[in-house]
Amino acid sequence: MLNDVVTMDKIVSLCKRRGFIFPASEIYGGIANTYDYGHYGVLLKNNVVAQWWKSMIQDRDDVVALDSAIIQHPRTWEASGHLAGFTDPLVDCRTCKQRFRADHLGELECGRKPSKHPGEDAQCDLTEAREFNLMFETTIGPVKEAGATVYLRPETAQGIFLDFKQVLQFARRKPPFGIAQVGKSFRNEITPGNFIFRTLEFEQMEMEFFVPPAEAQHWFEHWLRERLDWYVRLGIDPERLRLRAHDADELSHYSSATSDVEYLFPIGWSELEGIANRGDFDLTQHARYSGERLEYADPQTGERYVPHVIEPAAGVGRSMLAFLCDAYDEDEIGGERRTVLRLHPALAPVKVAVLPLLRRDGHPELARQVYEDVRRQVKAEYDDGGAIGRRYRRQDEIGTPFAVTIDHQSLEDRTVTLRDRDTLAQERVPIDGLGQLLAGRLTVE
Ligand code: GAP
Repeated sequence: MLNDVVTMDKIVSLCKRRGFIFPASEIYGGIANTYDYGHYGVLLKNNVVAQWWKSMIQDRDDVVALDSAIIQHPRTWEASGHLAGFTDPLVDCRTCKQRFRADHLGELECGRKPSKHPGEDAQCDLTEAREFNLMFETTIGPVKEAGATVYLRPETAQGIFLDFKQVLQFARRKPPFGIAQVGKSFRNEITPGNFIFRTLEFEQMEMEFFVPPAEAQHWFEHWLRERLDWYVRLGIDPERLRLRAHDADELSHYSSATSDVEYLFPIGWSELEGIANRGDFDLTQHARYSGERLEYADPQTGERYVPHVIEPAAGVGRSMLAFLCDAYDEDEIGGERRTVLRLHPALAPVKVAVLPLLRRDGHPELARQVYEDVRRQVKAEYDDGGAIGRRYRRQDEIGTPFAVTIDHQSLEDRTVTLRDRDTLAQERVPIDGLGQLLAGRLTVE
């Protein structure tokens, strides 16, 4: 069923209210397109990343892991084409002194009131569009003028290409095989970001899959299916997911074919992840600029070739935003409205809440014992503050799949109530073996 209750405002407000994600540097008035992740945000993010790693290196054996440097040799970005071509066309308004993406004017608001699109008011005075590079620049060395200019990486992918030869040796792989990496990337984005959809710094989950050239199309299709399935397996409604092939004029300079996995966010269908056929562009360029041979030599046949590359490139923040939007729901219990995040158990920041019904009569003592036991098996949270209904609401809002309540009967027969977040069904289960029971219900195939 399509979820039509969710809006971006509701997601932003829930994330702030429950401390998932909130604007960075708020005590100084904030900084555009930059966010901090609080306790539940970090747990959710870690779970998303863990599921991605699982799909890459636990569920298959043809991908290896890498963690390369954020600051690479500056020649990297000459070779990759980012220095010359990773730009956005920008215009300045001489009247309101604001800067806009020239290709997004129709979606942007001008600085004057009542607000119109930039260029529409008689007072608007826009400059010609100029290309601005999206890479953040900095300097190695204490004196800016004498130091070397370097860049914060705008994608994690290039570190993988620089290390291709090393990995080929130490991982003893032959194409087809992949190198996967998760890490921060940085882009000087000036377009309003729609919460964490577009930010200045963001984490990417990228994998470069090196294949014999003749197999590139086969593997491109393989990764389209795999990546789409990953989101569905983690609970995203398939009706809100689609693959969209790029038109020729949309393709990046390195790509011969790209399809985006798109999600129907409250802002409309938007890119969640790009899957590109990068051909031999990157290895050839880095071989040319570095003088190193970046190719595969088959020891049996003696055949040498530059592998082609299929790249699934996902954003951690964007995935999180999609998981949050898709999980968001509102319903009614006993005439009271409730907000609930129906997150897949593997992604839920907390798996089980342990709640004493009362703060007396021995309930907290037994609840503590249950909590200490359960937390050894699954991520649990103990909460004894406030009315039981409010504590359930709080756990529903952070997406906790199960709540265990300790009451009078628990003291008599060592059973507890197990409440299911989605069905609201409550069942009586024994305390002994509870951790194992929960672990079993939370198991992800
Ligand atoms: N290596 C290829 C590459 O970087 P991309 O389409 O520019 O391709 C891949 O980025 C993914 O990274 C996007 O689909 C998106 O999920 C995420 N991403 C890119 N720019 C972002 C930004 N400014 N803020 C948040 N996520 C971003």
